[in-house]
Amino acid sequence: MTPQVARAPDAARPVLQNTAPIQSLGRGIVTQLYVALRSAQIYDENNDTLVKQLDKLHALVLDLLRIEGAATLRLSRNFFFVNGVRINVDLKVYVTYHQLLKVLRRLELGRVELTAGISATELRSLVFLLANVEVGPDFEYSRLAESLAPLHLPHVELGPEEEEREGAEPGEGEPAQDPDTKEKAKRTYFRSVEVTRSLFESARSGKVMNVRRVRRVVQGIVDHILQEEFSLVGLSTLRDYDEPTFTHVVNVCIFSVALGQRIGLSKLELYELGMAALFHDLGKVEIPEDVLQKPGKFSADEWETMKSHTWKGARRLLEMRREGAIPIREMLVAFEHHLNIDLSGYPRVSRPRELNIYSKIVAIADAFDAGTTPRIYKTEPMQPHETLKIIEMRKGKHFDPILVKAFINMMGIYPVGTLVILDTFEMGVVAAPNENREEIHRPVVKLISDPWGSSVDGRLVDLAERDPASGEYARTIVKVTDPEKYGISVGDYFL
Ligand SMILES: [Fe+2]
Ligand SMILES: [Fe+2]
Repeated sequence: MTPQVARAPDAARPVLQNTAPIQSLGRGIVTQLYVALRSAQIYDENNDTLVKQLDKLHALVLDLLRIEGAATLRLSRNFFFVNGVRINVDLKVYVTYHQLLKVLRRLELGRVELTAGISATELRSLVFLLANVEVGPDFEYSRLAESLAPLHLPHVELGPEEEEREGAEPGEGEPAQDPDTKEKAKRTYFRSVEVTRSLFESARSGKVMNVRRVRRVVQGIVDHILQEEFSLVGLSTLRDYDEPTFTHVVNVCIFSVALGQRIGLSKLELYELGMAALFHDLGKVEIPEDVLQKPGKFSADEWETMKSHTWKGARRLLEMRREGAIPIREMLVAFEHHLNIDLSGYPRVSRPRELNIYSKIVAIADAFDAGTTPRIYKTEPMQPHETLKIIEMRKGKHFDPILVKAFINMMGIYPVGTLVILDTFEMGVVAAPNENREEIHRPVVKLISDPWGSSVDGRLVDLAERDPASGEYARTIVKVTDPEKYGISVGDYFL
């Protein structure tokens, strides 16, 4: 009889296969393993909380074994693979993932393989071992293996990290990506989301907002973009589906500052623009949660309520201005960012007016992020290049034409985060536009699957590169596709 699972349990999976069930179980296992490890460090074996955590983990592992016949957790570069499926990361689980990576790295552990028949007792012994093995400065994986042997766990197999690193080195000719800059971008991004979250939470509960902290965050974003434009833009493709407002305002801040830089604003102006962008939707704290979070279309009344976030935001900023914290432009941006340059938007204004330049910038950044984020304005999510096309169509009416041109120039025809299929049958995610404006159709792409549809891990290729033998382009975009169709979350390729 042919075995049900013929491939090695941790071999790379074809991207085209539906991996959603493993994705969801895998995320559960990664999260629950971390929670159980933490509890096992704090509590003794019979503690109720710990027993519950371990039971949950055991149930998830049994589910996976039942569906797949195998349960292998593997660490490669900075990602977890469960039975060969790379586990997607979003903002919600990012911190847990990072912590678990640190724990396993400290143990030099690269692979945990559990087989059918594993009991709750076996799993508990394993978790206790991993949580409590002494890790001194000269710790090596062999020490962990030595401690595992006497426990006699017949359904557990571990492997060191080294063997997993093979073949994971960047490819030849790969465009350089400074790991320090990347780490710095991540820190800047996640800190910005956190500070924004606490800003919005204090605003909602009527507490005093710490404007100085926000200013530091905005300065961090500006300084980063002035040094290196695209790693923050890449991170903007991460989504927090439960609380989209916080990531939205941070993304709008990033796009606005990047655009402001392109049109030559000074550093001080960029700080001010960034602050205005971060505060542009502050009025949403006055919109009831059930309206904000409502799935599906708004009623006429709800839409009126939603629209009021513009003047309510301006009013709130005005109150803060009395305390001397907020300059006037921030109020204008909150008031004007949905107004459109032809004043056809909202709130209604009776007299003709010219929008402030910061409002015009934020309006474009806002439309781009809202268009690609399904839940901000309850529209169908669009691919980044489609959103750009719509913005382009509305130039002169909704958006300032010169700023739209600068924005498209900055983002490229295929904006960062676009999932593309290449003429080599490979798939990739756009990581940066081509620096050469002549090659605007040929961005830098992170390869995510090989010609046979198997996942590969993020090698960067410049599509303007030509094959030295034939002089032809080595790779060309054939079409843009929808990441959801393949269960891909593009954001985690930027982590
Ligand atoms: Fe808004
Ligand atoms: Fe917005």
